[in-house]
Amino acid sequence: MSKSTLLLSEQDVANCIEMNEVVEIVQQTFRAHGEGQVVMPAKITLDIRSMGHEYWSNAMPAYIAPLEAVGIKWAGGFAENPSRYGLPYVMATILMQDPDTGYLRAVMDGRHITNLRTGAAAAVSASYSMASSASKVAIIGAGTQGRTSLQALMQITKLSEARAQDALPGAAERYANDMQGKLGLPVKACKTVQEAVEGADIVITATPANAPLVRDEWLKPGVTAVSLGSYQEFDDQFVLKADRIIVDSWAQCSHRGELARLVESGKMGREKVDAELGEVATGKKPGRGSNEERVLVVPIGLGSLDIAVASLVYKRALEKGLGGHFSFM
Ligand SMILES: NC(=O)c1ccc[n+]([C@@H]2O[C@H](COP(=O)([O-])OP(=O)(O)OC[C@H]3O[C@@H](n4cnc5c(N)ncnc54)[C@H](O)[C@@H]3O)[C@@H](O)[C@H]2O)c1
Repeated sequence: MSKSTLLLSEQDVANCIEMNEVVEIVQQTFRAHGEGQVVMPAKITLDIRSMGHEYWSNAMPAYIAPLEAVGIKWAGGFAENPSRYGLPYVMATILMQDPDTGYLRAVMDGRHITNLRTGAAAAVSASYSMASSASKVAIIGAGTQGRTSLQALMQITKLSEARAQDALPGAAERYANDMQGKLGLPVKACKTVQEAVEGADIVITATPANAPLVRDEWLKPGVTAVSLGSYQEFDDQFVLKADRIIVDSWAQCSHRGELARLVESGKMGREKVDAELGEVATGKKPGRGSNEERVLVVPIGLGSLDIAVASLVYKRALEKGLGGHFSFM
């Protein structure tokens, strides 16, 4: 029996899905986590940076029962890509399988899905925890995820102002121009992180930095801080003093991202984490306790979000007749 596999380029994927749909799928998938409808081992990393290559990649398999979707994303961040090779920082591919036979249904670009679902995850997780009057957002890292985060946040909540800061000269100004034009929201480019985050109700960090960029004393009562980057971006004092910490997956956040160093050094443990996003999405635990609480959210990245979005892309591509076909068998 010959079966063909659908091959989808980044453009094919982009032709199949819009941000508002991704926001909805991310909300559904967080709920599915809270209802025990997702099987998702913690991602594992192949890191060969000690072997002379600027390479690390994560294997992120997941099954989402309500969607009957099973697959894996293979994705990494490549520090020298933008400056040295003219390639994007994130590189990613997704494989989708049939849940009964394992037959390979599709191989598709995973970058576009990563970018959309990461922005949507930042926005949806912020929405669970933001103070009732939240309207000012600061974005630190005016790159790809910083863009999709603001785009997704605009779908969910009414914002009055956005501020952006970036270490690269001119990047925050470009971001402000582009996003203001695209979203019709006042967006200010800031020279310093302090200028961007002071007085902000929502702070989203989306940089590849591995050093505290945002200081405790700059964050106001009631703030919702979202650490989206793959390493540490907030200072230890803020993390240790936060009134509430919410993570997408403790199994992942205990050894990667914002919390990893504090956990490894024994300064914090599971007891400091108040909830996983699935528990908040299903109302089992609150996203915040009062409008004064300072809440830290760490959505380090769930493979389930990629596979859920990819399952819709697969269906759409079949309906639209997009992509190529290849028979592996
Ligand atoms: N949590 C998730 O699910 C998830 C998913 C994808 C990517 N990421 C992570 O998000 C981060 C950003 O990824 P991206 O695709 O947007 O990269 P990008 O290269 O498109 O953007 C990153 C931006 O951060 C800026 N920057 C770097 N160091 C900075 C610093 N010290 N202060 C301020 N700005 C700084 C860069 O100039 C750049 O504009 C990376 O750490 C990536 O691994 C997380």
